[in-house]
Amino acid sequence: MAEARRVKIAPSILSADFARLGEVVRETEQAGADYIHVDVMDGRFVPNLTIGPIVVDAVRAHTSLPLDVHLMVVEAERLIPDFVSAGADRITVHQEAAPHLHRAVHQIKELGASAGAAINPATPDAALAEILPDLDLALVMSVNPGFGGQQFIQSALPKIDRLRAAIDRLGLAVELEVDGGVKPENAGRVAGAGASVIVAGSAVYNDRVSVAEAVAALRAAADAG
Ligand code: DX5
Ligand code: ZN
Repeated sequence: MAEARRVKIAPSILSADFARLGEVVRETEQAGADYIHVDVMDGRFVPNLTIGPIVVDAVRAHTSLPLDVHLMVVEAERLIPDFVSAGADRITVHQEAAPHLHRAVHQIKELGASAGAAINPATPDAALAEILPDLDLALVMSVNPGFGGQQFIQSALPKIDRLRAAIDRLGLAVELEVDGGVKPENAGRVAGAGASVIVAGSAVYNDRVSVAEAVAALRAAADAG
């Protein structure tokens, strides 16, 4: 029997109340989350504009959880050093926005952080084939990046499954993260397809459930998947 993988939960603070970010991050750590997911958008690679290193630095002071920084930006190589200095533990760049993905991944590692590469819904998993052994994390987007609160795109599931098979076949310790539209209702399927990290924004920060309840519900659903 395959051993159950304990799925890690990475709440995305994109859906949090930015006016009380420190408190929210502390609450998220107390809720038992594994990472804090930070969505950085530049208004160019994606239509939205969010936060920069200054906010990562501010968040860093309120938690000892690893900061999982998702760069949805062009020319990531220019920004990576500032995010590492601000306290990012892991930095993920987009395959579609990084013409020199290998260089960007190794730049992150040389600066002492863990490195991830993300792919959009329309990008095939094969786009990560060459870089997979160099990665600490592969990120499958299950929405088109840019906004929280979107619907999960179902074609992400077979893509997660194929990446999980590739990671296991090569015997790699690469984390497989899934981001976008994940809720307790589909977290089991996402985990069942082979994800090891689940990102959730609007399912964690909303006025219906507490952060603790949301993290517990996601974990229960993922562990059952
Ligand atoms: C989308 C971001 C996600 C998003 C997740 O561009 O990368 O991290 O905020 O939010 P939900 O869980 O609401 O889809
Ligand atoms: Zn994200």
